Amino acid sequence: MLKLAITGKGGVGKTTLSSLLARLYAAEGNTVLAIDANPDANLGTALGIPAEELSHITPIAQMEELVQERTGGKPGTIGGFFKLNPRVDDIPQRFSVAKNGIKLIVMGTVKKGGSGCMCPESALLRSLLNHLLLRRSEMVILDMDAGVEHLGRGTAESVDAFITVVEPGRRSIETAKAVKRLAQDIGIKKCYVVGNKISNEADRHFVVDNLPDFELLGFISYNPKITEADREGLSPFDADPQVVSEVKAIKEKLDALS
Ligand SMILES: Nc1ncnc2c1ncn2[C@@H]1O[C@H](COP(=O)(O)OP(=O)(O)OP(=O)(O)O)[C@@H](O)[C@H]1O
Ligand SMILES: [Mg+2]
Repeated sequence: MLKLAITGKGGVGKTTLSSLLARLYAAEGNTVLAIDANPDANLGTALGIPAEELSHITPIAQMEELVQERTGGKPGTIGGFFKLNPRVDDIPQRFSVAKNGIKLIVMGTVKKGGSGCMCPESALLRSLLNHLLLRRSEMVILDMDAGVEHLGRGTAESVDAFITVVEPGRRSIETAKAVKRLAQDIGIKKCYVVGNKISNEADRHFVVDNLPDFELLGFISYNPKITEADREGLSPFDADPQVVSEVKAIKEKLDALS
């Protein structure tokens, strides 16, 4: 079962792609675990989970009692004694919502104190991610930001591939290169790219020409129906068959490479 991490510059379409891949794999009968590791968590909406159901989710890092119970440390504090490998195996079952064959876990944010913050919340999140990637047999799709700080070396090794989303613009290309360097540093072997918001041939060329060292999985067209779905709180998967077929092609290439 593939474990994928989706990264890229802000706003390029990470959540859009994560949700589409999750829905496609789930539609094939796979059990998919979708992990939202963004401070502004919105993967649930993109997966098509109604707002009412999402309102019952508390991000793991914000569950103070759970953090304290498991780590023995007080959330929001740095230093002091707490467990670095707290128990997490029951968390996926207890704190996920399920819809359309997908289980969603929202990680939440750890307020940063100092560099390389090791606080009870981050110990719990790291331990949980480690468990989800190493110990469980489901397909995992991790909607991340552009960094790799969620992943320690040992955890990163069990990610099968980083998929960096780029749009036809210089900044997202630079981010893709930076992410690849970071990913390689922590032992990730496969770094793929998906070009999103593509309007024409020139956009396609821009991506291909500027990322010669990347394996390209495919393109997603600029599509007003995706934006519209986002505004209405709907899943892009249910918005337009064209985007679904474009992401299907991306998925097939990914399956062929893995
Ligand atoms: N191919 C596309 N065509 C048109 N709009 C798109 C396309 N892909 C994404 N969008 C829109 O662009 C915006 C950003 O997309 P999305 O939320 O998926 O990006 P993100 O990388 O997850 O952003 P963030 O960094 O904030 O998490 C959304 O409004 C989304 O609907
Ligand atoms: Mg996002």
